[in-house]
Amino acid sequence: MKIITVENYQEMSRKAAEYIVDKVISKPDLNLGLATGGTPKGVYKNIKEDHKKNHTSYEHVTTFNLDEYIGLKQEDPNSYYQYMYENLFKHINISLTQTNIPSGLNENIQAECTEYERKIVDAGGIDLQLLGIGSNGHIGFNEPGTPFTTKTHVVDLALSTKKANARYFDKINEVPSQAITMGIQTIMNSKEILLLVSGKAKQDAMVKLLSGVVTENFPASILNQHHNTTIIADEEAMELVKNMSYVR
Ligand code: PGA
Repeated sequence: MKIITVENYQEMSRKAAEYIVDKVISKPDLNLGLATGGTPKGVYKNIKEDHKKNHTSYEHVTTFNLDEYIGLKQEDPNSYYQYMYENLFKHINISLTQTNIPSGLNENIQAECTEYERKIVDAGGIDLQLLGIGSNGHIGFNEPGTPFTTKTHVVDLALSTKKANARYFDKINEVPSQAITMGIQTIMNSKEILLLVSGKAKQDAMVKLLSGVVTENFPASILNQHHNTTIIADEEAMELVKNMSYVR
């Protein structure tokens, strides 16, 4: 894994947006995997600004989001559909028909999982997957203990994840208990991964990730075995890592 350390959240967001924009310019029909949460918001803001200023085109880009809550309507302000629309899609020239987010409303959720995998494969696979990391090491909504072999599947959210995401809801019991997420194998099949890490809350996660120990108890650890992963982390997230003798 290649690690780029930057000063702060703004710098991480700017660099990551630049990275993505460069990929879109060099491959206009890029299959781009996207993430939600607090971490990538600044990246999307920078992409939007670049689009306004430099007219980078997303006309031929196809996107695949990592995950979605089960049970929230698309128009729910907390659905990842809304998140993507408000933070990115409505600001760039991408047709919504080229954006893919697993549906947490399909009554046949197993069929939805199979169909989502098929769409990714039919598109030729994900060229670049943007990722955040949970403080418990989750990637997408793949919580600790998830087998590394999983494809898109349904998950019960860990209490720590519900707590972390409760900030967007009125009460913690409004946070859905389940989600549909790309599996760890789905993520690992991406040709390239860009992992963003910012802030104190992720310090322990960075230590575990960079220790090099690969375990299903810390899902992100599998990224140590991905052949083309870049981490952009800010100084705060890297604080405890600085003195580690072994950093891959
Ligand atoms: P965050 O979430 O960006 O809101 O910290 C990251 C994640 O849970 O993957």
